[in-house]
Amino acid sequence: MGWLGLVLSLLAWPAFAAGPADHAALAPTPPMGWNSWNHFGADVTDADIRHAADELVSSGMAAAGYRYVIIDDGWQGQRDAQGELHSNTKFPDMKSLADYVHGKGLKFGIYSSPGEKTCGGYTGSLGHEAQDARLFASWGVDYLKYDLCSFRRHLDGKTEAEQTAMMKAAYRLMRQQLDATGRPIVYALCNYGWGRVWEWGAEVGGNLWRTTDDIRANYESMMFNANAQLGLQRYAGPGHWNDADMLEIGNKGLDEPETQRTHLTLWAMLAAPLIAGNDLSAMSADTRDVLTDKEVLAIDQDPRGAPGNRVMQEGPIQLWARPLADGTLAVALVNTLNHSLNATLDFKALGLTGSVQAHDVWQHRDLGRIDQQHVFEVPSLGVVLLKIGKPQAH
Ligand code: GLA
Repeated sequence: MGWLGLVLSLLAWPAFAAGPADHAALAPTPPMGWNSWNHFGADVTDADIRHAADELVSSGMAAAGYRYVIIDDGWQGQRDAQGELHSNTKFPDMKSLADYVHGKGLKFGIYSSPGEKTCGGYTGSLGHEAQDARLFASWGVDYLKYDLCSFRRHLDGKTEAEQTAMMKAAYRLMRQQLDATGRPIVYALCNYGWGRVWEWGAEVGGNLWRTTDDIRANYESMMFNANAQLGLQRYAGPGHWNDADMLEIGNKGLDEPETQRTHLTLWAMLAAPLIAGNDLSAMSADTRDVLTDKEVLAIDQDPRGAPGNRVMQEGPIQLWARPLADGTLAVALVNTLNHSLNATLDFKALGLTGSVQAHDVWQHRDLGRIDQQHVFEVPSLGVVLLKIGKPQAH
């Protein structure tokens, strides 16, 4: 290759050569942020997003790690004669909104669909993938949630294998177009687990993929989504994560101290993305304290990136375990009964013997050494979250 060829290929490098390693570097730990959907739905406005950015900073959530401010469905207007997509009147100037979010030291996320229409009936990206990717990059988008929605129509009458191939192609296409802009953009696949997305999400350049249908703001829905992750641990790791859906912590129906703690505990045990979905301007101190608990967030963000598992269930009591980078084990006792229960740790299920050093994570308190006989009172619909073992020096 002559020098000109070399220069040209070097110039082309950042735009066209993004590979799996580059994609993985976008999300070494599960993404954390806030998304408009769970509270505002399609009514979301420019002002709501600016306030959310303000409040992420003033509440301490940004400092705790919540960085992405994501506009979900409802921002889109129409395409013009050139096919260029415009935001609707609720979002008069996307570039200035993105600048505002960036000015707060935060990252900016947006939402679209591989179909003609989004789930809310707004304009999707089908046939305009390259144009939309360039538009998003020009605004300064750092995160795209790409939601199957009306693309499902094209899957009708196809075999499951054909459907999976079509979804893979559609998701890969948008990843390629995002890469071609040269801007690093976290890619969140949303296809509700169709086609066993966990098997191919990373291969098409996804950093996270939803594994279930939509979460709702109630305990049963939250538990359903958590339990639906069982068996999927081996598909997730640094750069690519199973997404149990956005948090409902602080939304009506999931705003009690115990259920909020249970929600964050399970997402942390799963190494799930933590995308808050509550009204930050009306956040209670309880909700803020749960969402910003440093020790629980550190478990979610553990650099080893190995998701935990439910290792035992006895009636309403579940036992979850997650191995951490410092050699300790995160252990959660989860009580699904609406009455408090006493429980001991099943040492055998956890691979433990004798007595072990324990730390109560939510209480921020060392318990000293405990053994199989140690009794924990697990609150109604609540959890006890522990770190077991001695951290190893690095
Ligand atoms: C789907 C997604 C939700 C949300 C809505 C928006 O239902 O799963 O998370 O994005 O669409 O219309």
